[in-house]
Amino acid sequence: MNWTDLKNRADNRATLATLFSQNDTRAQDYSVRHGDMLLDFSKTHIGADDRALLLAMAANAGVEARRADMFSGVKINETEDRAVLHTALRNMGDDDIEVDGEGVMAGVRETRGRMAEFATAVRSGVIKGQGGQITDVVNIGIGGSDLGPAMAVLALAPYCDGPRVHFVSNVDGADIADTLHGLDPATTLVIVASKTFTTIETMTNARTAQAWMGEVVKDTGAQFAALSTAEEKTAEFGIAPSSVFGFEDWVGGRYSLWGPIGLSIMIAVGADDFDAFLRGAYDMDCHFRDAPLDENLPIWLALTGVWNNQGCGHSTRAVLPYDQRLTRLPAYFQQLEMESNGKSVAMDGSSLEVNSGPVVWGEPGTNGQHAFYQLIHQGTRVIPCEFMVAKSGHEEDLAHQHELLVANCLAQSEALMVGRSLEEATGIMAKRGLTGAELDRQARHRVFPGDRPSTTLVYPKLTPFVLGQIIALYEHRVFVEGVMLGINSYDQWGVELGKELANALTPVLRGEASEEGKDSSTRMLLDYLRS
Ligand code: F6P
Repeated sequence: MNWTDLKNRADNRATLATLFSQNDTRAQDYSVRHGDMLLDFSKTHIGADDRALLLAMAANAGVEARRADMFSGVKINETEDRAVLHTALRNMGDDDIEVDGEGVMAGVRETRGRMAEFATAVRSGVIKGQGGQITDVVNIGIGGSDLGPAMAVLALAPYCDGPRVHFVSNVDGADIADTLHGLDPATTLVIVASKTFTTIETMTNARTAQAWMGEVVKDTGAQFAALSTAEEKTAEFGIAPSSVFGFEDWVGGRYSLWGPIGLSIMIAVGADDFDAFLRGAYDMDCHFRDAPLDENLPIWLALTGVWNNQGCGHSTRAVLPYDQRLTRLPAYFQQLEMESNGKSVAMDGSSLEVNSGPVVWGEPGTNGQHAFYQLIHQGTRVIPCEFMVAKSGHEEDLAHQHELLVANCLAQSEALMVGRSLEEATGIMAKRGLTGAELDRQARHRVFPGDRPSTTLVYPKLTPFVLGQIIALYEHRVFVEGVMLGINSYDQWGVELGKELANALTPVLRGEASEEGKDSSTRMLLDYLRS
């Protein structure tokens, strides 16, 4: 990869003001559209030659061939020898996809049908609890078995017309205790969501929920469902096969909300809206697969990321949805992006020459504006910002509030780009009557350096279809960035060491094993906690 050329170009980048002054149609030229969605990347420092270089880098990295491999079931997760086929879970086409010579679509459709039947039966009261109609559903899972459904159920609140859905993830007993508090075990359905069905947090919480329900309910198995690739383990847990929804190892945890792991979403919004969610993702899949690189939304989202991070050296990016219902989206993207591309070893075992994927963080606007935007505008580090906003909200009677929301979103990217010079700040403060040294001192605090990059994604309205498009857009951006880095975006070995050490420390904390061999800091902390 031509990382040196990219860094050279980024080091010699023109300012945003210059780029805009040189091109009257920059906004149109440096934005891409798909359907009713618009991605504006004109407020990044990418110029005409940089654009050509970035596109050439994507092409040279083999993004197109790798993309075809992913969609067709080639085992691109090479360290685990697995295909990467979350796209099959939302494939609405007639084509089959083969893994190891076997078609997968019949199984996908069958499971989707079973999920719809189950969700509809729960929603309509055909599947009941001991105490009657299910009023509450508790999804117990962590990471990809929690973040996606939790994010989507909140995002789709206007469509939620089923039982209340709750999410428990943390092994901290506070999480399950607070969630179960006030629920009626006789009308609660517990969904144990775990790809492996071995994750310590999930299995511990599942047993706690089972004991809680067992105090009241005779047949707890009838009020439990399981979502997992390990169907024999779900049987050991006592869950009836009719309430088990299996999937294959070619679905990664953080890519799994499209299939059985999305059951809680389906129960919340109903099978038709879940179907619309899948259709939105499929629509983005088709766009990603078919649109030329230069007109492709996921490609450009990825290339702005590569430019900002590997080119300019900005190692974090803020995701800033101006959409309160996307409150959990930054956390979801943290797993999606950081677990996928937080790696320093390339597929061939060599070390990366450039930064791995960025630190992703964020909060919805306008809340963030009154918290951390100070640093984004005037801090010493440059933080590329990814703004997101809907053309319209669901609250038609509160359209004036939506206007304020949109104005704030646009104002932030404008302020980041335009900034405020010392001269302008001096003029403002002079009008307020300041003079001399005090005028100079006060004006300096009010300078905004500007020239700070951002992208803005505009979507029509946060419907199930649009949410599906947005999530798939980001999944594919992660894919493209991963291919350009030459890494495997689909394993997660980096989470293993901590798990192993936690398993070894639990008996030490209980006094059942010795702390010998532990470093002195860990020993001191153990002693302090046990004392
Ligand atoms: O520890 C990381 C991880 O394996 C994630 O990749 C995954 O989403 C999460 O744990 C939960 O795993 P499971 O669904 O197998 O319980």
